[in-house]
Amino acid sequence: MRPDLSRARPAAALHPNQEFAASVLKGLSNPRKSLPCKYFYDARGSELFEQITELPEYYLPRAEIAVLKTHAGELASEMPDAAVLIEFGSGLSRKTELLLGHMYNLRAYVPIDVSQDALLRAKNRLRSRFPLLEVHAIAADFCQAVPLPPAFASCPKLGFFPGSTIGNYSPSAAAGLLRNMRDTLSPGGRIAVGVDLKKDPRTLICAYNDAAGVTAAFNLNLLRRINSELEGTFDLDAFRHEAIYNPREGRIEMHLVSKKNHAMSVLGRQFWFAAGETIHTENSYKYSPGQFQELARLAGWQPVNVWFDEQKLFSVHELRSLP
Ligand code: SAH
Ligand code: AVI
Repeated sequence: MRPDLSRARPAAALHPNQEFAASVLKGLSNPRKSLPCKYFYDARGSELFEQITELPEYYLPRAEIAVLKTHAGELASEMPDAAVLIEFGSGLSRKTELLLGHMYNLRAYVPIDVSQDALLRAKNRLRSRFPLLEVHAIAADFCQAVPLPPAFASCPKLGFFPGSTIGNYSPSAAAGLLRNMRDTLSPGGRIAVGVDLKKDPRTLICAYNDAAGVTAAFNLNLLRRINSELEGTFDLDAFRHEAIYNPREGRIEMHLVSKKNHAMSVLGRQFWFAAGETIHTENSYKYSPGQFQELARLAGWQPVNVWFDEQKLFSVHELRSLP
């Protein structure tokens, strides 16, 4: 275990590798095979995600950064002194710098992520850019309760959940997540959530099926990770990446499609793949502003502001916790 990152794991919880094994065995045993997308982010996966953010087709980060550049000051202006900024799925914390640049009296910044590599890289970069800032990184799954250091208990809190990571959860799971975040940030908490907007399916499909094949490599990396951590025998050449738009659900789906009939194993357990059968690896839900505000209200948040980039590709919602 790396020494300078907190790990939030209740005493009775599974070791992360046992949890990974249990999820993979369960997902591959389903009649419709699936794998949870949070396992994309090992060191290689986090690196590939960083490359995705630079792709011409993947408009999301550029659009969100444009929104934050314009409105970060507004978000920061309402911060009381000695507040704590808590980010869920912080990755490399690049967008966070836009907020931190306006927050002068912050008590601490708490990035939460499952990727220890991303947290360490972020922490090192922030140390040189903001030497006086206390960064308390927590390696944890934000779907579970994340215990904060007791010293921050009475501090006012601003949550930050950018990147449209909320879109990787079904609407009901997303409402559950927002409810948990409200509990973490209350009383009187606020949160800024980055949410990708509904748009023409062609733009969406290109964003998740780029010409350079980086998203394909990101998707296939999950099989490589299973091979290296769970004695998997996946032949990566036997699968191809697929991204489709599901209009009924309003989501992009990523799949890995088996090119042939074949068998493979994980931890000694055999799985059979028919030609054309898929492993569903990720959903990315897209929301209209009204749809997301309705979801936020259901989860106990009052929508305060919603901002867009000039092309109206992406939205950032400011929410305030309802009493
Ligand atoms: N917020 C950054 C990174 C987005 S990528 C940005 O906007 O650029 C999504 C990030 O969320 C990754 O760093 C991934 O490791 C993390 N993540 C995904 N699922 C998670 C979960 N369940 N708990 C904690 N972190 C998660
Ligand atoms: C992190 N998440 C919001 C990204 C998305 O757009 O759903 C992950 C991703 N998958 C493929 N490209 C990017």
